Amino acid sequence: MTDSARRTHECIFRVRYVDELVRLFPAVDPAVEKAFRAVDRADFVSGFFVRQGARWSWLTAGRPLTAEAAGWIYANRPLVTVIGLNGAPASSSSMPGLMMAMLDALAVEEGMRVLEIGTGTGYNAALLARLAGASGHVVTIETDSELAATAAERLGALGFTTVDVVGGDGADGHLPGAPYDRLVATAGCRVVPGTWWDQLSGGGRALVPLSHGATYPLTELVPEPRRGSWTGRLAGPANFMGATGAGLGGDVPPYEAVRLPAAEAVAEEDLGVEPDRLADLFFFAGLDVPDARAVRLSGGSLGRKLVAGLGLPATEGAALLCGTSLYVGGTAHSAADRLRKAVEHWHSCGRPALGQYRLRLGPPGGPRGDGHSWRFRRGPAEQVVELAEGR
Ligand SMILES: C[S@@+](CC[C@H](N)C(=O)[O-])C[C@H]1O[C@@H](n2cnc3c(N)ncnc32)[C@H](O)[C@@H]1O
Repeated sequence: MTDSARRTHECIFRVRYVDELVRLFPAVDPAVEKAFRAVDRADFVSGFFVRQGARWSWLTAGRPLTAEAAGWIYANRPLVTVIGLNGAPASSSSMPGLMMAMLDALAVEEGMRVLEIGTGTGYNAALLARLAGASGHVVTIETDSELAATAAERLGALGFTTVDVVGGDGADGHLPGAPYDRLVATAGCRVVPGTWWDQLSGGGRALVPLSHGATYPLTELVPEPRRGSWTGRLAGPANFMGATGAGLGGDVPPYEAVRLPAAEAVAEEDLGVEPDRLADLFFFAGLDVPDARAVRLSGGSLGRKLVAGLGLPATEGAALLCGTSLYVGGTAHSAADRLRKAVEHWHSCGRPALGQYRLRLGPPGGPRGDGHSWRFRRGPAEQVVELAEGR
């Protein structure tokens, strides 16, 4: 294919890509759609890893793009750009559909000051800069200094003069750019640091993929007057790579791995739950079984299969919810009973959805929730989750 044919192809792919995202989110804010049309994802990805079986191989994305590279970049899928020493993805350009949903929920307006945690490729920072306009300002923090330098260079070369890329730990925020009207984390967090409360303006808000139920549901947080206190709600399901560094709670391994001896049986029970309700069920199960965590089960009668989800490891084995099934491996019978009970409880509560909860996060000792509520520790803070009235 000639260079000019490639360029034409690239343009067609690019237009179709945004059309497809808008088809998925027909109610998206027109300003967010406009930003996606104006900022080219390919400008931020010079290559990425493609999974082939158990191996990752690198695909360079030089301009004009090959049809293969364009097919990956202009699609609603994440692109892994860094593999860590542990062999797991360490940075990516997030799934565009999820980015669109987050930008829509964040409601960035002209002139706003925005703090992003996790610069990665810089693509989302560029979209934020478009939304905040020439009178706005975006500060984006990246812990990987090489990624931060590359993103700064790219954004500068593309003329994004209102973005500052800061190398460092997002848990510290960036005081010189504060106060911020919006804060968005693009890496999964277990803890919401007090610095974010300090650096957000009074009427501001944060959107954080906050670890719960073995995933990272999008959590919208509004600061309350008491330092470090927030109220919140869940804006939708999401999965993210976990942030690194103790300040965001990233000192916990993403999955607890349980490997069964070859002779052990693994039973699979169908939960009888529709796939589009699983995020709701997992969130509830994470409340009802507070010690349940992300577990990966392999070996035994699973053979080469590996299952990962919300589970409880037992002395020999584990029980976990994964997809529409409950897996019980080894001697994890009482763990399986606890997860089954949580599923029954979710049904008896009327199968609540993510949008029906209200959250309070803050220093321990806050008021108890009335009605149906759960309380648990989140780093140094305490979180109360309540099922809203009239569920
Ligand atoms: C999913 S990627 C972000 C995608 C990015 N927003 C984009 O548009 O390409 C998550 C990024 O968060 C970074 N990260 C992880 N922990 C961090 C921390 N504590 N502070 C700042 N960045 C962090 C990772 O290095 C990774 O680049």
